[in-house]
Amino acid sequence: MDINLQVSIGNLTLKNPVTVASGTFGYGEEYSEYFDISELGAVTVKSLTLQPRLGNVPPRIVETPAGMLNAIGLQNVGIETYLKSKLPFLREKKCTIIANIYGTSVDEYVKLAELLEKEGGADAIEMNLSCPNVHDAKNKFKCPLIAQSPEWVEKYTLAVRSSVKLPLIVKLSPNITDITEPALSAERGGADAISIINTLLGMAINPETRKPKLKNVVGGLSGPAIRPVALKMVWDVSRTVKIPVIGMGGICTASDALEFLIAGARMVAIGSYLFRDPLAPIRIIQGLREYCLNNGIDDINKLIGSVIIE
Ligand SMILES: Cc1cc2nc3c(=O)[nH]c(=O)nc-3n(C[C@H](O)[C@H](O)[C@H](O)COP(=O)(O)O)c2cc1C
Repeated sequence: MDINLQVSIGNLTLKNPVTVASGTFGYGEEYSEYFDISELGAVTVKSLTLQPRLGNVPPRIVETPAGMLNAIGLQNVGIETYLKSKLPFLREKKCTIIANIYGTSVDEYVKLAELLEKEGGADAIEMNLSCPNVHDAKNKFKCPLIAQSPEWVEKYTLAVRSSVKLPLIVKLSPNITDITEPALSAERGGADAISIINTLLGMAINPETRKPKLKNVVGGLSGPAIRPVALKMVWDVSRTVKIPVIGMGGICTASDALEFLIAGARMVAIGSYLFRDPLAPIRIIQGLREYCLNNGIDDINKLIGSVIIE
């Protein structure tokens, strides 16, 4: 039986519903030593900013039960170096590219998106409105994220939507009471998809030194520990908006990915688990195909949102 694994986001068709989570795959070079990265539905690159960033002071990674805390702080090469030195590799490999962008104002997001479109730097844009690691937690424990304000989400999405034609994905934060509110705002602002979830705010302290384990004090929790939270948010959002949802949060296996698709995600992204098994996305694509074959499903789209609630 021929199995269709293709899915679409806006007017972009992807060969399968599996991508990688921004910030866990760099720009693809290292991973291409392990597998053919063009096999992915898309490569989602590390958040890009207008200027290069060194990120936060280490230590900025802490292992936790069933996950990790990170406070990288958006270390990246900046948009110019990306376009000059990273993009040609991804294009040569014939990857579908989702470029994740981060700005400190509406104007910065618009500039980044326009540059990407003008230079052919992406096949879709993911706006990171939800990074928890770019504020000085010592002085400002209450860190407002754009994604925590439905009003801002709509304003930022609308501004970028009006400036570029590329498919637009808005990445939201789980650090909020009701994630469907910013999701609806992103949809109203013209987003083609919602990507959820970014990391959950967390903290770890070394009792011997009484110091936080992260220099940044707080960080973002990811990995299997957050999977049920992410799944529930995917279920909530996919029943609320009409646009597709890209689900992520602790996905390690094909079975995990299937949970997200069945809950309502059109695509899934693999993040932290890549550090354990760089080949996980390939195993997951293969596992999805096998599941479809074993269950007589000829089109993966038939699985999306097929959860049976009795
Ligand atoms: C080390 C690390 C760096 C990350 N950097 C980014 C980033 O630059 N931009 C972004 O939108 N999300 C970033 N994230 C969040 C992931 O893309 C993803 O949303 C989150 O980790 C949940 O997926 P996971 O549990 O599979 O890792 C980062 C996560 C990790 C672990």
